[in-house]
Amino acid sequence: MQSTLVLIKPDGVRRQLTGQILARIEAKGYVVADLQLVQPERALLEEHYAEHQGKPFFEPLVEFMLSGPSVAIRLEGDRVIEGFRSLAGTTDPTTAAPGTIRGDLGRDWGLKVQQNLVHGSDSEESAARELALWFA
Ligand code: CMP
Repeated sequence: MQSTLVLIKPDGVRRQLTGQILARIEAKGYVVADLQLVQPERALLEEHYAEHQGKPFFEPLVEFMLSGPSVAIRLEGDRVIEGFRSLAGTTDPTTAAPGTIRGDLGRDWGLKVQQNLVHGSDSEESAARELALWFA
């Protein structure tokens, strides 16, 4: 059994897609072990996205993530890290496959790739680190 951090980002919350996204996650059989609406502070986001510091999209990404609350979810299940990322689809919603959260619900926001509805941890190490940050 694995745990991962899933975020429904500010675009998903604003567009009232939380229920639809949760329905897809639960239909897949993953278990919502904890869930909260979080308005993050800059310090949390800078730690969460530490690996992207210095990249051109870092500041717009942090600003976007500050623009409203996210739903933070501790999600559990067999191989849930890989499984949720597959359910989410690739980073860019424009090219994410139909059938995925980003492919079906994401919009073409031009260069604003960061507005891709959801986040899922990419490894067991990231999941442990990110869960500790968002569920401190
Ligand atoms: P996420 O899964 O939260 O992890 C890193 C985030 O950076 C990613 O989703 C996108 O929101 C954002 N991102 C990745 N690549 C780009 C890019 N080229 N331009 C803008 N944002 C990006």
